[in-house]
Amino acid sequence: MMEILCDIPTWQETRAEDRAKGLSLGLVPTMGALHQGHLSLVQQANSENDTCLVSLFVNPTQFDQDNDFEQYPQQIEKDLELLKSVGVRYVLLPDQEMMYPDQYRYKVREDSQSTILCGSHRPGHFDGVLTVVLKLLNLAQAEKAYFGEKDYQQLQLVRGMAEAFFIPTEIVGCPLVREEDGLAMSSRNLNLTESERQKAPLFYQILKESASVDEAKKNLSTQGFDVDYVEEHWGRRLGAVRLGQVRLIDNVEL
Ligand code: PAF
Repeated sequence: MMEILCDIPTWQETRAEDRAKGLSLGLVPTMGALHQGHLSLVQQANSENDTCLVSLFVNPTQFDQDNDFEQYPQQIEKDLELLKSVGVRYVLLPDQEMMYPDQYRYKVREDSQSTILCGSHRPGHFDGVLTVVLKLLNLAQAEKAYFGEKDYQQLQLVRGMAEAFFIPTEIVGCPLVREEDGLAMSSRNLNLTESERQKAPLFYQILKESASVDEAKKNLSTQGFDVDYVEEHWGRRLGAVRLGQVRLIDNVEL
């Protein structure tokens, strides 16, 4: 049976009881608007642990623009149905006051890898991500936590933070999941218009097939994408583009 927890002390009691019984936990942190990519993380968490906790929290501190936060897709009832259908044991649904009793006076900042790529285009984004992930890791007391490789820079930074702060939870990276036409699955895809949705798979194709970073940027611009960056790091080519109001990110192995 799936249990929905809306307050933190109840969750902490539940976890303490489960730990006393020796039950291992897999944490899947999300901002909701769930898709098959999230469900693949949940399935892996379920298969590798006795129980699974999915957190649904649209974290305001990782949005650098108010309208981006307000327009972030929300579909809580559908999310809960999906989580039930894949056999999730626990869902944590905290609100802003619960997650930020300090009003975000305390934060985690990384000074090197968070300043490139998405970090250089979204000031403060990774401070918000790392801070909320640290809070969730501390709350969950999980053996493993699962993050998708679509947010490749985020995954690197979370791994680095876990190491730097001696966090005992193992950070597990999971393969990016694509739509049939190649578009990387993302909650933000819900905000694409019909014609933008048709064009969006070209982002992946161009990222994958261009001979160089410069060629990829040129081809993307020609196709009407507004390019934030295309760069190569960690043996991957990573890109971020804007299509109308929607910002898309993707990455491919080199
Ligand atoms: O990848 C996301 O959905 C978010 O950045 C995360 C890890 C849930 C933190 O809010």
